Amino acid sequence: MIETGRTGRTWLLTGENSGYALALTERDELLHLHWGPRITLAAAESLAAAPDLPHRSFESPLDGHEEYPVEGGPRFVRPALSVRTPLVRGTEWAFRSAGTEGDELRIGFTDAVHGLALTLHYRMRDDSDVVERWATVAHAGPDGPPLELLRADAAAWSLPARDGWRLSRLHGRWSAETRIERAELLHGESVISSRRGHTGHQYLPWAALDADGAATEESGEVYGCALGWSGSWRISVQRLPDGLVQITGGAGHDDSGLLRLAPGESYTTPVFAGLWSEGGFGGASRAWHSWQLAHVVPDAGSLRPVLYNSWEATGFDISLDQQRALARRAAAMGVELFVVDDAWFAGRTSDRAGLGDWTPDRDRFPGGLKPLADEVHGLGMRFGIWVEPEMVNPDSDLYRAHPDWVQHVPGRTRTEYRNQLVLNLARPDVRAYLWDQLDTLLSGTPVDYVKWDFNRCFTDPGWPGEEYPQKIWTAHVQALYALIDRLRAAHPAVAFESCSGGGGRIDLGILSRTDQVWTSDNTDPLDRLAIHEGFGHLHPARVMAAWVTDSPNRQLNGRVSSLRFRFVSAMAGVLGIGGNLTEWSEEELAEARDWVDLYKEIRPVVQHGALYRLRAPRGGLSAVQYVLGEETVVLMWLAAQRYGERPPALRLRGLDPAAAYTCRDTGAVHHGSVLLHQGLHTGLRGDLDARVLRLGRR
Ligand code: GLA
Repeated sequence: MIETGRTGRTWLLTGENSGYALALTERDELLHLHWGPRITLAAAESLAAAPDLPHRSFESPLDGHEEYPVEGGPRFVRPALSVRTPLVRGTEWAFRSAGTEGDELRIGFTDAVHGLALTLHYRMRDDSDVVERWATVAHAGPDGPPLELLRADAAAWSLPARDGWRLSRLHGRWSAETRIERAELLHGESVISSRRGHTGHQYLPWAALDADGAATEESGEVYGCALGWSGSWRISVQRLPDGLVQITGGAGHDDSGLLRLAPGESYTTPVFAGLWSEGGFGGASRAWHSWQLAHVVPDAGSLRPVLYNSWEATGFDISLDQQRALARRAAAMGVELFVVDDAWFAGRTSDRAGLGDWTPDRDRFPGGLKPLADEVHGLGMRFGIWVEPEMVNPDSDLYRAHPDWVQHVPGRTRTEYRNQLVLNLARPDVRAYLWDQLDTLLSGTPVDYVKWDFNRCFTDPGWPGEEYPQKIWTAHVQALYALIDRLRAAHPAVAFESCSGGGGRIDLGILSRTDQVWTSDNTDPLDRLAIHEGFGHLHPARVMAAWVTDSPNRQLNGRVSSLRFRFVSAMAGVLGIGGNLTEWSEEELAEARDWVDLYKEIRPVVQHGALYRLRAPRGGLSAVQYVLGEETVVLMWLAAQRYGERPPALRLRGLDPAAAYTCRDTGAVHHGSVLLHQGLHTGLRGDLDARVLRLGRR
């Protein structure tokens, strides 16, 4: 709900439990008034009438109080907007107009000297506490020199005054993504970013701040913000001299040039979403999840199928007969979606060749992919394929025909990673080629699922012949989004997975157009617990793909673990199987079938339920709980048991203390009050033990 004050210069957005208020001063400064629990419009107007802007020498009264600090004038904070023409750098705006449309508020400004039109957008939905913010920057023309947009952040968030703040972030690297890390926020600037052209394994574009470092899993004030952008990005958290905190975020890593706007052209930033919660880190996660399931992820009300993918088991060595044999075993196990990973296309016998030529390899698949797809469908499963459309191997027909289609800088080395180069998707001819290849593929073969990969960073972002090559960073992502959107529109039954060497492209932008993400190439079931823990701070289990692979783990560390432990680990998200099923014994296949059956039973609760992180994976007992309506599922893992020590009792959350709960496995009845206060003994013992507990309210 949006309310506008009597003067038409104060606005209050109200969501499920929280409110957000802002106002224009007489001098057209746009001030932040409130972000926290719900307040009334009268309260917002009282804040607007007496803004708290102390005057001191050497400090700006505006710093830390503005909704969108621009470069120029009496400001010393990091600007959200930095624009220049050949003669003038910086912005001095005048209020133009404001309006609402449904749940969206728009406030418009102009800078006559630049011919710039800026619109700030806000949206808060009635069923959520997430505030969605973004900005549109336009060259209003009709003539004048081009505007150089050095930086245009999506938003700046201002936090209320508190004694101190603790900053949480999700850092990582390849195969060790989304690790939660927390530290006191010091004065100055804390920056997380990607300079890599994709979201990156190194940070999720998310930050959270809890007041006085006092939040726990289930209590305390937590502010969070997350960016919906799948290219380079930057989030900067500033603790200002007087202790106030302001966070800016948007596309692009430095201020060295985002875009150049000719008269009539405009740029829309990605969405930077913000959330206030007083339910601690767990409450904040659940609020992020329900917003994404309701408003971001496509078709999130549907359940994701159990998939099979042989990548880890077979690598590039695939054939029709081998995939058929795996498909039969997968179907017998209850798998619902069979995905052929890398190496199905022409020339792709290793990572040295083939990317760019998206036609089936005739040696390995003589009749194309259709016979395999038909067989998979005949076995009652959906059929999926892997692609990596934004890339090309120099050893490919595409590159031999169009060596100029890749990002490159004349006279410089074309840096190869994994023997591949990045196609310049900003070029219309490259986009047309990719559309044609992928549309033909999806039209000619009955494909239900596309795993869309991106296996290297940008290193040579050049575009010979283009006047303003810096725009390649933004234009690539815009072209990627447009391509996926167009494919989805033309092939509405096809689901998409975002992958980038595991979790290198996970953000709200890609999640608004893909159905799930490949969380990490690391499929070790113990390592995964920590990756899942971090992932769940922002994104729901409904999009978090996890596979059961072989033991010893082939990919990385050779760890030996039971099928039980591997399954219960992967059941925390969207379950997949990635082992070499031709080598699994009859007993293992039968056990796996039981686990798949159990997963299908608990899947609605896992994929759509509220997540409670009961105990973090720090070596001993860890557990998560999902609650949906009357049903509760607890997944628990014991990494290692100390000699002579019984693992601690596990206290549950999110239950009704007055209700009784029946254990679906043993029939035992538990009192909600006891489960919440005393907890229950898990029965886990030894190393790498795991268990699923299902409880139903009586
Ligand atoms: C990436 C992905 C893997 C697999 C390979 C195929 O590394 O993360 O899951 O698809 O590419 O080459």
